[in-house]
Amino acid sequence: MSLLIHLIYCSATTYPMQDADLVSLLETSRKNNAKAKITGILLHENGSFFQVLEGTQEAVEQLYERILHDNRHTKVVTIIREPIAKRTFGEWTMGFVKLDSQELDEIIGLNDFFAEGSSFTQLGAGRAKKLLAAFRKGRWRSKVKNQSPVQQKDGEKEVSLKSATSHISKISFAFQPIVDVEEHRVIAYEALIRGQKNEDFSNIVPEISEQEWLQFDTSCRAIAISTAARLGLPSDLHLNFMARQVKDARSAIQSTLEAAERNGINLNRIVLEIDQDKLIGDSQHFAQIIEEYRGVGLRVSIDHFGAGRAALKLLEILRPDMIALNIQIVRDIDTNGARQAIVRGVTQTCDDLGIDIVAKDVNSVEEYQWFLDEGITLIQGNLIASPAFEQFPAPQYL
Ligand SMILES: Cc1cc2nc3c(=O)[nH]c(=O)nc-3n(C[C@H](O)[C@H](O)[C@H](O)COP(=O)(O)O)c2cc1C
Repeated sequence: MSLLIHLIYCSATTYPMQDADLVSLLETSRKNNAKAKITGILLHENGSFFQVLEGTQEAVEQLYERILHDNRHTKVVTIIREPIAKRTFGEWTMGFVKLDSQELDEIIGLNDFFAEGSSFTQLGAGRAKKLLAAFRKGRWRSKVKNQSPVQQKDGEKEVSLKSATSHISKISFAFQPIVDVEEHRVIAYEALIRGQKNEDFSNIVPEISEQEWLQFDTSCRAIAISTAARLGLPSDLHLNFMARQVKDARSAIQSTLEAAERNGINLNRIVLEIDQDKLIGDSQHFAQIIEEYRGVGLRVSIDHFGAGRAALKLLEILRPDMIALNIQIVRDIDTNGARQAIVRGVTQTCDDLGIDIVAKDVNSVEEYQWFLDEGITLIQGNLIASPAFEQFPAPQYL
């Protein structure tokens, strides 16, 4: 007979979880656990998880391996993993208790631990019970500071968030360096969204509705930050800022800063890459919001900086710390006079305003050499290093 064990751990959510997020997590868990004959309980309070998993050693270890790599939580601490004589939660494929709200009790099929007749006091004495009691007293909490809950207003939103959650649980990040080739130094890594197995994620993005976009965008950055922190971020971190509405900008920035703080990354190491073409609303208002956050060290870069008048106007309004040149300007610049003239003009403007320029998507030695000759030394592109999945790849200096 195979060895029966229980494994108990605690963790912190990577983003503020809503009821729909938790329900979706439980649905998957119950289905899988029934198949793998795993029982246990999952507790959630204020951004902290505590879970008991019981089953054969093989089944529990296999599941735990998946759970460890789940981007919905971070700071996973294994409290204990030991053989047990019998199951404590024999009836529950995954009992669930959300300690800070009674609302979930009403959701059919939630199989609430306390509502099933066998309450906490009737649980057989043992390690699981003692640790559960400790968690309920506020111990074994992976620390999450200031995780501000996202508003949830109606049933419709709940359904939509459920699908956002299913996307969020599938994402991870690749990282690509931005290097100062003159100083032979990586100044930053840009986080690029991928699926959990490094697959292209851009095909998923159109499926996300306007309504769920803010939650998706916010969660993406939180996951990028926690992944970077877990991998030991060696430089600054560039994050794509995908909020579509200027009115959402403040909460999007605020949640990013909180995620950085939670993961021990100093705010002055974060650069938000803003794609102006995708942001709807008043640029002046957006600039004011950015201004508020400069005081805490936040920096911004305008991504895909192009040749249009709107782009130049933005330099005045937003006063970014950096711009990244549009791929259409970078491609074949060594042989295209018009592109060269545009970059020379932009370079002079940026020099006068104290703005750094990154040549992005540099793919050939000729393009690279042209930028260097013009004194543009911040380079990003496959020529130097391709994005690497959940790794910080070393650049190749030419
Ligand atoms: C806090 C937490 C607890 C989880 N508990 C379980 C669980 O008990 N069973 C389970 O199958 N997945 C659980 N998951 C989800 C797994 O990490 C993983 O996403 C899932 O097993 C994949 O299932 P699928 O291959 O059917 O999509 C948990 C995730 C988190 C963040």
